[in-house]
Amino acid sequence: MFSAKYHRRIGFLLAGLLTAFIAVLAQAQQPKDFRTPPAGPEPGIHGPRVYGVRPGHPFLYRIPCTGARPMRFSARDLPATLQLDPNTGVITGMAPAKPGKYSVVLQARNHHGKTRRSLTIVVGQTIGLTPQMGWNDWYTYYGHISDTDVRTAARAMIDSGMADYGYQFIDIDDCWARKPNSNDPQTGGPVRDAQGRILPNSRFPDMSALTAYIHSLGLKAGIYSSPGPLTCARYEGSYQHEQQDAAQFAQWGFDLLKYDLCSYSHVANTSQLAELQKPYRLMGGLLQHADRDVVLNMCEYGKGDVWQWGKQVGGNSWRTTGDLGLERGNSLPGFYRIGLANAELSEYAQPGGWNDPDYILIGMVGNARNQNAPARHTTLTPDEQYSYMSMWSLMASPLFFSGDMSKLDPFTLNVLCNPEVIDIDQDTLGRQARILRKTAQDLVLAKPLQDGSLAVGLFNLTEAPRTVSISWQDAQLTGAQRVRDVWRERNLGTARGSFSRTVAAHGVELVRLIPRHAKTGVSSAQLQ
Ligand code: GAL
Repeated sequence: MFSAKYHRRIGFLLAGLLTAFIAVLAQAQQPKDFRTPPAGPEPGIHGPRVYGVRPGHPFLYRIPCTGARPMRFSARDLPATLQLDPNTGVITGMAPAKPGKYSVVLQARNHHGKTRRSLTIVVGQTIGLTPQMGWNDWYTYYGHISDTDVRTAARAMIDSGMADYGYQFIDIDDCWARKPNSNDPQTGGPVRDAQGRILPNSRFPDMSALTAYIHSLGLKAGIYSSPGPLTCARYEGSYQHEQQDAAQFAQWGFDLLKYDLCSYSHVANTSQLAELQKPYRLMGGLLQHADRDVVLNMCEYGKGDVWQWGKQVGGNSWRTTGDLGLERGNSLPGFYRIGLANAELSEYAQPGGWNDPDYILIGMVGNARNQNAPARHTTLTPDEQYSYMSMWSLMASPLFFSGDMSKLDPFTLNVLCNPEVIDIDQDTLGRQARILRKTAQDLVLAKPLQDGSLAVGLFNLTEAPRTVSISWQDAQLTGAQRVRDVWRERNLGTARGSFSRTVAAHGVELVRLIPRHAKTGVSSAQLQ
């Protein structure tokens, strides 16, 4: 008679074979310009491997995990002050009071298998140890954003599966507050209450209830203000109310503040560095002393070389350029120009402080020059979209999608949700790719990763297919390197001395070069 153990093994084997069969079938059914293979039904934990939190502050982390539900989550060595919901994979509680590194092993199991992944919770003063990931409403809703739209987006972040890859923030941009001297019934009325507290407009009936809803999904909430008297769209700003507003944002339960320079240049001489830094230093200090973690996303378009001092004044990221949505582009689409400018700043990115080249504008997205026009599908080609996402990930950029979350299509998700691409963005080392080569025809970006491997983007800037290469000499590599095609999640064999690929017009080939004998973050199954 066969033992129960034997039956179990056979069961696992059959389930494994079935899973592999389904994966092959699913991949064969994908349209040919889709690069990311479909996720299997077995559990796959994704997202950062390191997470910063201030001592004793509220903690919220939804384990990003693909695979069929129901799923059962568990965690080894979770600090006693934290609790994990085994059904949703959401970890809540208070961060330990004692600073230090807490190594946790996250585990997930379903009918198709089980997996684990380590997460180091770093309790200390630095938050934003990896670039933030999420959604921002600006390029979809502009002046019309409402509580309902934000809730819809949060729900869609879960239902679309984006949260299973690490997308976490749901950010409200400009236009949630009231507009001074406006007769509009929705946005008019007193801009602050008798105590000077900032008031949301009638499209946001209850900010605390809104953040509570976002948190109940295991996601985080972001808000927006300006150090000037008015925001860029002329809503109430935080000038001379900084302390009150910082306290209010934290009390409402927000986890991120985008602080946009806008009208501050009307009240201070921002061509002087000290004046430009002053409001960010003030808000940065206030948020650091709040009783919850609030990520500070600075937005002053790169003025005064913000990358040199953004982190010192308390910023966790800083926009390095103007608005991507206003960028006209020439023969190359606008994201290339913004990306190329941002790529020059690689030495300034670090855990806790990231260069921000603005949002990812793909899918159904509004028109920044005609904000009342209905959202339209991006005109970027599939190859350009993979270039965009590759460039942002190589540059360790915050990954904020800003298209319409309620109209996500399979191709857009295929671009946004490749776990190995996201791993490059979220890599623990926190280095931004260096430019190895930039000519009128091609661009090579290389990002060193924690495990000793090198992520390399081979970009073709021309309008016809072209061979783009990387030489070991330029990249300071030696010996044999295993080559992994990151988008297609496939191994391409071993290369020595150099590696070349044919790259589509305006497209990219993204590879990871792994020293032949290195132990790497890519699992041995992936490398077979
Ligand atoms: C711009 C900013 C955009 C958006 C907009 C809102 O200055 O760069 O990202 O926030 O203001 O009015």
